[in-house]
Amino acid sequence: MKVAVLGAAGGIGQALSLLLKNSLPAGSELSLYDVAPVVPGVAVDLSHIPTAVAVKGFGKDDLDAALSGCDVVLIPAGMPRKPGMDRADLFNVNASIIQTLAEGIVKNCPKAMVGVITNPVNGTVPIVAEVFKKAGTYDPARVFGVTTLDVIRAETFVAELKGLDVSQVKVPVIGGHSGTTILPLLSQVEGATFSDEEIAALTTRIQNAGTEVVEAKAGGGSATLSMGERQHVSAYH
Ligand code: NAD
Ligand code: LMR
Repeated sequence: MKVAVLGAAGGIGQALSLLLKNSLPAGSELSLYDVAPVVPGVAVDLSHIPTAVAVKGFGKDDLDAALSGCDVVLIPAGMPRKPGMDRADLFNVNASIIQTLAEGIVKNCPKAMVGVITNPVNGTVPIVAEVFKKAGTYDPARVFGVTTLDVIRAETFVAELKGLDVSQVKVPVIGGHSGTTILPLLSQVEGATFSDEEIAALTTRIQNAGTEVVEAKAGGGSATLSMGERQHVSAYH
């Protein structure tokens, strides 16, 4: 299997690449692409981990080579929020990045599964879909927005509130990845019931948890480490 991470030198990109180096099946290839000149170094660093996954770094001008023959492409490339910003405020700067990367995917690996992490997810996923549609190769089952963070936050907050074993709590979260489009299905949580007040408070906290991190990082970016927690992906598309 060949997997590309586009934006591999960033906060999420590095954590994700580490996760992949340690968990992809033996014989896989990991392609790390970024416009930041440090990306070859990220690849060399990861290549010293003793797993049977070949890692290669690709700089700014090597998008085609990075994507050639990929089965899975994960995209955390682009700007994160600063305090006071909404995810939608990132659209202007991140939309063109995503468009360029999606055009590279269509050209080099049109059958790849594409997971979009870059915000605003509710806007970047449709950009990827439109680029595929324009090329006549759109398959809605292959383009995802990565929203797993909403699930893990919901599970953490529910377990804290109810005093449950967090490893056993499952909370489905559907919808998108911004404000009220994040819909935790608290009625589906097994082994817990919630008052109307608890539902209102939990829902608001889950919907605003990204802002909680952005404010706590005080201009230093948004969530990166909690993004590396899960190896399965929930999706918006
Ligand atoms: P970061 O600034 O640490 O890293 C972004 C990386 O993208 C940098 O290395 C940068 O060089 C690279 N980049 C910029 N333009 C590029 C291009 N044209 N091609 C390739 N790489 C490019 O940011 P981060 O904290 O890793 O966050 C990345 C994105 O993920 C942000 O948009 C953020 O809002 C989003 N995010 C999404 C979720 C989610 O749950 N979906 C969670 C957290 C953050
Ligand atoms: C998150 O939910 O943490 C990410 O979408 C980053 C952000 O800007 O909130």
